[in-house]
Amino acid sequence: MHTARPLDRQDLATLGRNHEDLLRLCRDLEDLADSLPFAIDEARCRHVAEQVVPLLTRTQEFEEQLLFPDLDRSAGSCFAAMMIERLKNEHRCDRMAAEEISLTLKAMLRGHCGLTFETIGYMLRGFFECVRRHVASEKAMINQLIPPEPRMALA
Ligand SMILES: [Fe+2]
Repeated sequence: MHTARPLDRQDLATLGRNHEDLLRLCRDLEDLADSLPFAIDEARCRHVAEQVVPLLTRTQEFEEQLLFPDLDRSAGSCFAAMMIERLKNEHRCDRMAAEEISLTLKAMLRGHCGLTFETIGYMLRGFFECVRRHVASEKAMINQLIPPEPRMALA
């Protein structure tokens, strides 16, 4: 469901917290990739395996329902529409990759993963690098198209 209302200060704070949550996930995944194969923190690995899909789903849904319609309205250009479409495509790719990562980490913890540790490491690095790039693109668009001052006046 898409909303027609513009973002308020509370929404912007939620977006900022969501991006921080995603970047924290990326740091956890990087630590996990660095720890393979002999120094794995199993509790942290289990936590990441369980949280990666719900975290992406929650943050992406918020952006697609509130942020993207507002960016589209603020910019009102063909270029912005193309950028938003690209970000949405990245959401779909990242969500599919998150599901693969969750299944792979759970299988690894059970000792039933058919992939080598090197392959798992590549998979984790490819994912968190994409998510970091995605967050940086969104932050740049928000800063460019939604200046904070008018939003502060709404509060
Ligand atoms: Fe996003």
